Amino acid sequence: MCGIVGYVGSKPAVDVVVDGLARLEYRGYDSAGVALLADGELATAKRAGKLVNLRNALAEEPPPAGSTLGMGHTRWATHGAPNDRNAHPHTGCGGTVAVIHNGIIENFAALRAELEERGHELVSDTDTEAVAHLLEEEIKDGAALPEALRRVCRRLEGAFTLVAMEAGDPDTVVGARRNSPLVVGLGEGENFLASDVSAFIAHTRNAMELGQDQVVELRRDGVTVTDFDGKPAEVKEYHVDWDVSAAEKGGYDYFMLKEIAEQPRAVADTLLGRIGTDGRLTLDEMRITDEELREVDKIIIVACGTSYHAGLIAKYAIEHWAGLPCEVELASEFRYRDPILSRTTLVIAISQSGETMDALMAVRHAREQHAKLLGICNVNGSTLPRECDGVLYTHAGPEIAVASTKAFLTQLVAVYLIALYLAQVRGTKWGDEVFAMVQLLAAMPEKVEKVLETMEPVRELARSLAGEKSVLFLGRHVGFPVALEGALKLKELAYMHAEGFAAGELKHGPIALIEEGLPVIVVVPPRARDVLHDKIVSNIQEIRARGARTIVIAEDGDTSVAPYADTLISVPAVPTLLQPLVTTVPLQVFACELATAKGHDVDQPRNLAKSVTVE
Ligand code: G6P
Repeated sequence: MCGIVGYVGSKPAVDVVVDGLARLEYRGYDSAGVALLADGELATAKRAGKLVNLRNALAEEPPPAGSTLGMGHTRWATHGAPNDRNAHPHTGCGGTVAVIHNGIIENFAALRAELEERGHELVSDTDTEAVAHLLEEEIKDGAALPEALRRVCRRLEGAFTLVAMEAGDPDTVVGARRNSPLVVGLGEGENFLASDVSAFIAHTRNAMELGQDQVVELRRDGVTVTDFDGKPAEVKEYHVDWDVSAAEKGGYDYFMLKEIAEQPRAVADTLLGRIGTDGRLTLDEMRITDEELREVDKIIIVACGTSYHAGLIAKYAIEHWAGLPCEVELASEFRYRDPILSRTTLVIAISQSGETMDALMAVRHAREQHAKLLGICNVNGSTLPRECDGVLYTHAGPEIAVASTKAFLTQLVAVYLIALYLAQVRGTKWGDEVFAMVQLLAAMPEKVEKVLETMEPVRELARSLAGEKSVLFLGRHVGFPVALEGALKLKELAYMHAEGFAAGELKHGPIALIEEGLPVIVVVPPRARDVLHDKIVSNIQEIRARGARTIVIAEDGDTSVAPYADTLISVPAVPTLLQPLVTTVPLQVFACELATAKGHDVDQPRNLAKSVTVE
């Protein structure tokens, strides 16, 4: 939520900052703004709506030439309507200090009242503006900008990434972070700040992680990091292992289309280096010893949104392969409950971004109760891996479309790897059984590719259903979370009523929703699971008898469902637990195509943000 860019160097700052914002627009698109410093003057420009509005404003009224120091912001509104006035940057009364912010400053009302009492005039409804005025006061009192920011941060409560500039300090951009992301890009004679590395990847692949409660001072010739008290802080540099082409559309109309197409590679990359030549799994980077894993007696998975659906699927795999009790929790609910945890509980947090506040807070809640913590995360240098004892990275590459696709499939691979690894170290499956399943997992990129090659009828179907009001999704076993994910994709992208149900629950209520012509998508398990398979075939007949239009996803060669399917979508035959890797893909394509047919921007659905860094 909210994208932030800061730049100090020798290139025109406006270009670097606006290009950076274009790569961060997935984080929010309620408004965009920049601040630039040239000849001791601070200039700002901001516009409500998507970045294109700011670009047009800058074209009409070009900013002062020669600025090589600047910052920019793309907003996902929390405090105050998404209009020009509330757009960032915000300035103090004198217009000499500018601030951009991601997060929520919880004590802003008290700070604002205090500032107004001292004669400050605040013009926006945001929590951010108070920071600009506080900085202005500290600078008036003689503090240099970095020290002023440290002083102000000590007074703030809540979650924030802040970046600030001051007219009197033409060489420095400062940033601060608490509970919200901020990374440093290290260039030659230029340095960057951003919410994520994609904003500066075109300029440098050398990055630096910032820790909690740190302030960074960015100059052309270097970077200084301290804590909020001014003590030098330890920081970690790293090299980003993907390049700028990974963060571009590469000929596709939307990032989402590109990311769906990239799934075979993403799945293969997530398996890479984790399967030994003897078929044994090696997850060394996990940083939790085999001994510790043998002591685990309960697993709790916490996650949000699509990642939560990956967690639901993980439960089936962990219980079946590793024989461990496994609970799956929405992170936002877990955090406010009193879960029973101990040192032998393994809490697995799944988060593509590694920055979702609900997931981070759930992890902290579990930490307080001494549970072991394992993160599954796609973004190197993000907060989640640092808050956990161990991490298993998914290697999906940057996911830019707001609705998650390739990250989801790689999360599934990660949870399968963990479940099989647990089976291996705990001996709940024989070596040859693990080996056989690992071989099948290794064949999945090819199966996903096959699904993608046969998606034209799904696209056609989607276009034909663009006028529908509602679509239902049914599944059993691992097909149930797939149904939930299919419904979520349709809600997110097409703004349609869509609901996923466990097919067995249908008769306990949802069947009342079935009426003539209602499209119902049913995910059918492999025939090898005969009881389960036959039960869902009966469910299809029940809804068809009541007038539903049945769209059935079943494995290749499953002729038993054909008589009851108005539309049959075939996917390659794979083992039951791995089936979500192939059954989810048609649902992604379906939602994407249907939303596009309705004229929606599938990369930037209304009201959503890729990474929700507030609770
Ligand atoms: C937001 C996004 C979803 C995503 C969820 C969890 O709501 O719009 O697509 O699934 O956050 O994100 P995470 O980064 O924690 O996986």
